[in-house]
Amino acid sequence: MKTFTSILQIGDLKAACTKAKYVKEHPYADQELGRNRTLLMIFFNSSLRTRLSTQKAALNLGMNVIVLDINQGAWKLETERGVVMDGDKPEHLLEAIPVMGCCCDIIGVRSFARFESKEDDYNEVILNQFIKYSGKPVISMEAATRHPLQTFADLITIEEYKQVERPKVVMTWAPHPKALPQAVPNSFAEGIRMTGYEFVITHPRGYELDPAFTAGAVIEYDQRKAFEGAHFIYAKNWAAYSGDNYGKVLSTDRSWTVDSAKMALTDNAWFMHCLPVRRNMIVTDEVIESPRSIVIPEAANRIVSAQTVLKEILLNMDK
Ligand code: CP
Repeated sequence: MKTFTSILQIGDLKAACTKAKYVKEHPYADQELGRNRTLLMIFFNSSLRTRLSTQKAALNLGMNVIVLDINQGAWKLETERGVVMDGDKPEHLLEAIPVMGCCCDIIGVRSFARFESKEDDYNEVILNQFIKYSGKPVISMEAATRHPLQTFADLITIEEYKQVERPKVVMTWAPHPKALPQAVPNSFAEGIRMTGYEFVITHPRGYELDPAFTAGAVIEYDQRKAFEGAHFIYAKNWAAYSGDNYGKVLSTDRSWTVDSAKMALTDNAWFMHCLPVRRNMIVTDEVIESPRSIVIPEAANRIVSAQTVLKEILLNMDK
């Protein structure tokens, strides 16, 4: 593995989960692997889990870590080529990226969808410039269209908690006051396709995701019907994807909030969310605090996910 920008790059999922299990049980077994190697983590957007878990994963592997917040302390970066740089951005990404590459062995990048241009977002303009110009392996710490470290942690978590071989996993849209990217739901749908799970996506009309990610999933517009018999409820908000509505909030209908009455329709399902979560918008206090909520073990598995991926990159580095 030279880059990690999609869960599909993890290879055989069963083998990857076995490696993750080893990493979880032996977190400090590979301290020598990362010695004198540096991970540079670049954040264009805020983060709690990704920042902490990826850093912890690198430290467990004996790596050095540098964290750079582009919007706090670094020069403001121009990202468009051909722009006359007479505004408030004194540095261009095309110089900044190779300089960043000189200071590390692996680069992690967080760059959300901007919702200014669907084409730019879905072409991963920022992430791909890092891949092209840094000269170093690049891992996505959530880009415009995918969040593979989150997806890998989600799949590890489902494998740990599932009680039947082929669980019914339901990804449900839930309301949120702001426009959120489609990266997590896209990536989750992409990852579920690597499993044999039954997969249902439920959302209000108008919130259809890019079919490139959701092909093969059952789309059910009746949330209650979707919940029937589910073993896992994966809640997430996302902004509209289709047509002129790209990046827009079409609904904040709180009848879509995940509550105990809906969870009662499931087969005693586990509740999952990538966090951060808006309580009593996405999910009620009662559900997220219930014994069937596994949002914290899910977040803890972000360390395992990142460590497994970094380990693979380090193992392949000199090949
Ligand atoms: N789930 C997740 O990526 O959380 P952060 O945005 O806090 O990193």
